[in-house]
Amino acid sequence: MHNACLAPSWIRTEKMAKKVTKIGVLTSGGDAPGMNACIRAVVRTGIFHGLEVFGITRGYAGMIDNDIQKLESRSVANIIQRGGTILKTARCKEFLTPEGRKKAYKNLKSHGINGLVVIGGDGSFKGAQIFSNEFDIPCIGIPGTIDKDIAGTDFTIGFDTAVNTAIEAIDKIRDTADAHDRLFIVEVMGRDAGYIALHSGIGTGAEHILIPEKKTDVEAVLASLQEKEKRKKLVNIVVVAEGDDFGGGNDLAELIKERIPGFDIRVAILGHIQRGGSPTSMDRLIASRMGYSAVECLLEGRINVMVGIVNNKMHFTPLDKAIKAKQRISEEWLKIVKILAS
Ligand code: F6P
Repeated sequence: MHNACLAPSWIRTEKMAKKVTKIGVLTSGGDAPGMNACIRAVVRTGIFHGLEVFGITRGYAGMIDNDIQKLESRSVANIIQRGGTILKTARCKEFLTPEGRKKAYKNLKSHGINGLVVIGGDGSFKGAQIFSNEFDIPCIGIPGTIDKDIAGTDFTIGFDTAVNTAIEAIDKIRDTADAHDRLFIVEVMGRDAGYIALHSGIGTGAEHILIPEKKTDVEAVLASLQEKEKRKKLVNIVVVAEGDDFGGGNDLAELIKERIPGFDIRVAILGHIQRGGSPTSMDRLIASRMGYSAVECLLEGRINVMVGIVNNKMHFTPLDKAIKAKQRISEEWLKIVKILAS
C-alpha cells in the first residue's frame, strides 16, 4: 500500500486515485508538426487500455463550445505523416476566465471525461494547471511547440521538423547568396526563444546567430562584418530569431546598409513555413512515445505533469515547473558559432 506521506505530490495515493475511464485530448497554441502523430498515439493507447477517447476541437475553445467527439482507432488512421493538427488549435482568451473554465468543465462532465491530455506549449500548460486545480480532472501535458522553450524535456514535438525546414531554406539561400556575393539576413521563428535560430544557424554555417536569450552586441556584429568585407568575404549568412532584442531581420539589414554600404544585402523572413510540413522521423518518434506515455500516466494516477524525454528516457515534470523554467542556451554552443564562422 502507498504511504501518502512518501508519495510525490504529482502521484495520487491509491486512496485518492479515481479510475480514469474516459479521456479527452486537445491541441492548443501554435501548431507543430508531429501533433497528429501524438494524437494518434494517445487515441490508440487509450483504446488499447479499454478507455474511451474524445477529441476536443480547437483546444480550450472547443472545450468551452462543447466541440467534442468520440474518436475511434480509425479516426486517427493515415495522419502520422501529416503536419498541422486534425483537432485544430487555438489560443483561447475565454479559458483565462473562471466562467470560461466552468463551462469547459461542465462540457467535459457531460461526456463523462475524467482525464485530459493537453498537447501544446507553456501557455497551454498554464491553462491545464489552473483547470486541474479548480476541478477534479487530472491533466497531462505533452510539449508540442516548434520553439523548444520548455524545461523538463530535451525536445518538443515539432522542433526538429522546424529546424530542418529552416536548414533546407537557408541552404537554398546560400546558393543564391554565393552566386551574387551577398549578405543574407535570415529571420526565423522564435518570439522568446532562440533554439530554431541556434540549431539552424549552426547547421548551415551561419556567420552570426542572434537570439532573444543573449543581449545582441550589434557593434560587435558590425565590426566582424566590416572585417570580413575587408578580406573580401562577401557571402555571409546572419540568422536572427524574430524575438531578438535588437529587432528582426529588416531592422538589422537597415543598420548594416547604413554602416557598411559595401555589402549587397537581402532579407529572407522564413515565417510560417517553419510550422508546417510532414514531421521528421524524430518528431514522429517522440510524439508517439510521449502520447503513449501520457495515457500511461493517467492510468497510473499521475496528475499535472508534463511528459518529456531527457537523455532518451521518459521524464516527468510537474506542470508548474515546466511552465516557469526555460531551457538554458549553452554558452559552449555560442562559442562554437564564433569559432566556426571565421
Ligand atoms: O510558438 C510558436 C510560434 O511559431 C513562435 O515561434 C511564433 O512567434 C509564434 O508561434 C507565431 O504565432 P502566430 O502563428 O499566432 O502568429
